[in-house]
Amino acid sequence: MEIEVKTSIVDPDVALQRIKEKKPQGIILSGGPASVYEKGAPTIDVKIFTLGIPILGICYGLQLTAHLLGGKVISGKKEYGPTQLEIGNLKLEITKDLSESFVVWMSHGDEVTGLPRGFKVIGSSDGVPFAFVENKDKKIYGLQFHPEVEHTEFGSQILRNFVAICHPELARLAAKRVSGSNEMLKRVQHNTGKIMKNIKEIVGENDYVIGAVSGGVDSTVASVLTAKAIGKRFIPVFVNNGLMRKGTEEHVIKIFKKIGINPIVVDAVGEMLRRLKKITDSEQKRKIIGNFYIEIFEKEMKKLLAKKLPVKFLLQGTIYSDVIESQGTKHSAKIKSHHNVGGLPKNMKLKLLEPVRNFYKDEVRAIGRELILSEEFVSKQPFPGPGYAVRIRGEVTKKRLDMEKKADEIVLSELEKAGILPQVFLSFPVMTGAFSTAVKGDGRQFGEVVALRVVDSKDIMTSNWTRLPYEILQKISSRIVNEIPNVSRVVYDITTKPPATMEWE
Ligand code: XMP
Repeated sequence: MEIEVKTSIVDPDVALQRIKEKKPQGIILSGGPASVYEKGAPTIDVKIFTLGIPILGICYGLQLTAHLLGGKVISGKKEYGPTQLEIGNLKLEITKDLSESFVVWMSHGDEVTGLPRGFKVIGSSDGVPFAFVENKDKKIYGLQFHPEVEHTEFGSQILRNFVAICHPELARLAAKRVSGSNEMLKRVQHNTGKIMKNIKEIVGENDYVIGAVSGGVDSTVASVLTAKAIGKRFIPVFVNNGLMRKGTEEHVIKIFKKIGINPIVVDAVGEMLRRLKKITDSEQKRKIIGNFYIEIFEKEMKKLLAKKLPVKFLLQGTIYSDVIESQGTKHSAKIKSHHNVGGLPKNMKLKLLEPVRNFYKDEVRAIGRELILSEEFVSKQPFPGPGYAVRIRGEVTKKRLDMEKKADEIVLSELEKAGILPQVFLSFPVMTGAFSTAVKGDGRQFGEVVALRVVDSKDIMTSNWTRLPYEILQKISSRIVNEIPNVSRVVYDITTKPPATMEWE
């Protein structure tokens, strides 16, 4: 989508047949968590390599190519995060407009250590000699790193070069579409119109939709689309479970008032904490919070049904990264059950409506702008559905929740004062559940360690830790240890994603 070339995702089991039917200009063998040596690992018919269609293997796709064509792959050599790639030859079609040396992001368990016949190395990193390879005659290319993630420099350029190898005219037209901002705008407008049309078709003329609105960008964009599509047959419900950021409730009410809808607001603060009592496992927390949400919706639904309103759908702001990370596709690995998708009880009586399920965060934001939600709102930080509960390691008690909220307010206010809050993708403190010694006043204290996580990202799939100025870090640290009695120290999390997820749980 980003480089304006039409793609279809095809299951490897039926790839050869679909390729013969659809006759694509190029084939990408994608990455994935499997090892070529695993039983049941995805594979493809080797005839794919004889069709004369250019092929680009990415990560697992490269390993599979090497494995099937007689190269060597070794298991268990893991590498995650940024690394420097050196390109040996910049005069090739696939290396057009790249630089001699640039940062690429790796995330792999296996590695190619022997190339099949006819392949040559184009680029290497310190740890990976066969990071970028080609078989020029057969137009087969392989990348051990991930060109599709925003943190890989020149990643889109490599993909554009591959498109130009597949079909030069297609590449020219795609470049023209990308450069014309009107075209980009039209695409978002087209998507927005298409989503609303879909919602109307799915819901029909009479049924009602009840919507979980958390105040986050995803659920708000999903619900504003729905409200615009079916008007007052959409009923937004905001559950105040005490795990959301300050001011969320007021904000939600304001947004819906603007489009003439009064959300139902349910106060569930006390009950939420009771249900989380003694729960320490993060997946269990997600499920409890998710189930509690659904229970509340079902209760609200019953009240609406008693008024003879046919409520048949539950709206959720699930986006594509939630789906991938909760194993929504056959060959992707489960990273965590995002509460949007994983925590739903099986006996749920409502059908799901997920209008932004196929979009990444930046696309959802673009749709939000198209819906004329304020820029301040559209670019606000993502906040996880289970809220502060997944930012408190171990049990969520009232005391630790108050500590987390206070620390979060301090971080946000210091970033705001420094004028950098609008550029920060995600910032939050974590109550780590680890304890260390502090000396406060004259007394020794064994208090909780707070970890500060501030990250840059665009599409959520990868992130880098933000290089915050030391003065701001110092200010945040001093305020947290001084203003929150049971905190002993503050540490800064400097881990990239991958391997570390953004949230700690
Ligand atoms: P991770 O930690 O998976 O976070 O790198 C990626 C994005 O997802 C958010 N997140 C969640 N959102 N339910 C949600 O609705 C969840 O359980 C959940 N866990 C993480 C996280 O804040 C980040 O924006």
